[in-house]
Amino acid sequence: MRIGILGSGLMGAKLGTIWARAGHDLVFSYARSEQKLQKLARDAKGKARAGTPREAAQDADALLLAVHWSRVDDVLQQAGDLSGKVIVTCSLPMNADDTGLVIAHSSSGAEELATRVPKARVVSAFGTVPSEVLFGVFEARRKARRPSLVYCGDDSRSKKVAAGLIRDVGFDPVDAGPLRIARYTEPFTLLIAQLAYEGDGGPELAYRFERFVK
Ligand SMILES: NC(=O)c1ccc[n+]([C@@H]2O[C@H](COP(=O)([O-])OP(=O)(O)OC[C@H]3O[C@@H](n4cnc5c(N)ncnc54)[C@H](OP(=O)(O)O)[C@@H]3O)[C@@H](O)[C@H]2O)c1
Repeated sequence: MRIGILGSGLMGAKLGTIWARAGHDLVFSYARSEQKLQKLARDAKGKARAGTPREAAQDADALLLAVHWSRVDDVLQQAGDLSGKVIVTCSLPMNADDTGLVIAHSSSGAEELATRVPKARVVSAFGTVPSEVLFGVFEARRKARRPSLVYCGDDSRSKKVAAGLIRDVGFDPVDAGPLRIARYTEPFTLLIAQLAYEGDGGPELAYRFERFVK
């Protein structure tokens, strides 16, 4: 697949690198330095290149939106027309100092994003895990017990695309339902962040749902 990364920071750089290594065609975009994007593309060692958000979006089968909430409008505006595009968002609607959600309970960042780009197909995924765990999950992907990763969205074709990308990283995709379920997954991330960054075990944290059926 052709994947455009909109926001090549902690999440975008790692997920993009993993997808390039998994064989996808990648464009890294939106960082404060062009050299950083070029280095990411070189180091990813797959079919990866640096580009502008518009170039990342142009021929993409899927886009990853991975910017701070305050940068969403800017990167969307730079990306241009996103009609029909699959946007996988891990972006959380955090306030300026990252201490709380500015949208919650009755809506979510993912739903708000869908209203800002109504012609795109938004899937919420990857926002529930810390970036620090991504390479470890990828390295362990051939093991039988994969960690879970919840995702949600309203368009079944886009959700299939997202589920494939989730599997490529090494997670077991858990379909949580329509996009409005991001109202629950986004606050869940604050629990994960608490455990990852304030707990004793370090930030390399993933989660796994178990069902006990008789
Ligand atoms: N980090 C995590 O573990 C984690 C986990 C779950 C969800 N999330 C969510 O995922 C999203 C991305 O998080 P992140 O930690 O990856 O953020 P980040 O490291 O700050 O990355 C954001 C990217 O946006 C770029 N950027 C910021 N301002 C810019 C500007 N004015 N012009 C051009 N580029 C600009 C940054 O450039 P530079 O590369 O030059 O800094 C960086 O590449 C956020 O919404 C966050 O809440 C993060």
